[in-house]
Amino acid sequence: MKQLVRNVKIIGTGSYVPENIYTNEYLETILPTSAKWIFENLGIKERRIASINEATSDLAWKAGAKAIEHAGLTKDDIDLIIVATATPDRLAPSTACIVQDKLQAYNAVAFDISAVCSGFLFGMSVASQYIASGVYDNVLVIGADTFSKIIDWTRRDAVFFGDGAGAAVISHSNVNRGFLAYRLYSDGRGKSNFTIPGGGSEYPACQKTIDEKMHFFHMNGKAVYDVATEVLPKAINQVLSDTGLTIDDIDLMIPHQPSIRILQKTAEIIGLPFEKVMTNMDKYANTSGGTLPILLDEVNRARKIKDGDLILFAAVGSGWTYGASIIKWA
Ligand SMILES: CC(C)(COP(=O)(O)OP(=O)(O)OC[C@H]1O[C@@H](n2cnc3c(N)ncnc32)[C@H](O)[C@@H]1OP(=O)(O)O)[C@@H](O)C(=O)NCCC(=O)NCCS
Repeated sequence: MKQLVRNVKIIGTGSYVPENIYTNEYLETILPTSAKWIFENLGIKERRIASINEATSDLAWKAGAKAIEHAGLTKDDIDLIIVATATPDRLAPSTACIVQDKLQAYNAVAFDISAVCSGFLFGMSVASQYIASGVYDNVLVIGADTFSKIIDWTRRDAVFFGDGAGAAVISHSNVNRGFLAYRLYSDGRGKSNFTIPGGGSEYPACQKTIDEKMHFFHMNGKAVYDVATEVLPKAINQVLSDTGLTIDDIDLMIPHQPSIRILQKTAEIIGLPFEKVMTNMDKYANTSGGTLPILLDEVNRARKIKDGDLILFAAVGSGWTYGASIIKWA
């Protein structure tokens, strides 16, 4: 991104997580894992799990409604709804169309973005282009996932994920603040390191895809760790350089929540004191598209962000997809 025409800022945030909680201690009773290992290595104590009747759109629209209310707008003010998800309700139509219907926000255009754990960051960047160019005034960006639906609950890597949704209303601003820059990247050579192979056009759903558990996620944990700790610092350093800022200028970092070890390593490489890195994975684990906006909403409503603060967003996900952005809070 070079230069925005109109200033673009976040004017409201919201989040929603299911009520049902799976603690590490519970997982210890059903999986070959240990509560202690999960907390020490991943920073997770518990995660929220959607009920059998709760789809991604059910979490998404509730988060979206809260963000609209927080922004002081009504559903009719929303011009565009972007839902970032890797666990859509259905292959067709988009989850964004289902969310639009549940919100009854019929003035809005609606579409999904597929960038897995980077989805919300990618979604905010798309929203920013529409607002900066004057095409739309108010865009609702939602990151929502229900990974519990694509977890093999017999495997130990089930411990990584939880369900949840977060949202932000993005709008224009007369003051010279808001998003300063984005840097987004994709690298399809990583396409098999985290994947849900079954149920699409490559391997349509059939007995074989079920027998071979291809409808569950498959993760190369070591590759995720190695790539995440390489590309997050790369994207962050690039966006700092783009804005002429240094890491010392950053007041808070609101990152995706893959694991505490990945965030600690990233903070160490970029030279950011870890107390400036916001986390909530102890409560929610990795909610994929939901992590960044749920955390943003928590931090925002706890009034941890002051006017003029420089906030660093960063995310990495399957694809690979990754990136970083800096906002001067207004
Ligand atoms: C998954 C990860 C913890 C595995 O660690 P690793 O050192 O690369 O590889 P290993 O699989 O050999 O695991 C090392 C030890 O950790 C322990 N371990 C790994 N996963 C575990 C789990 N879910 N529960 C309990 N212990 C686990 C085991 O003791 C294992 O030893 P073992 O081989 O004797 O069983 C690590 O690679 C990681 O954190 N990756 C990032 C994944 C991530 O963040 N995913 C979410 C975003 S997509």
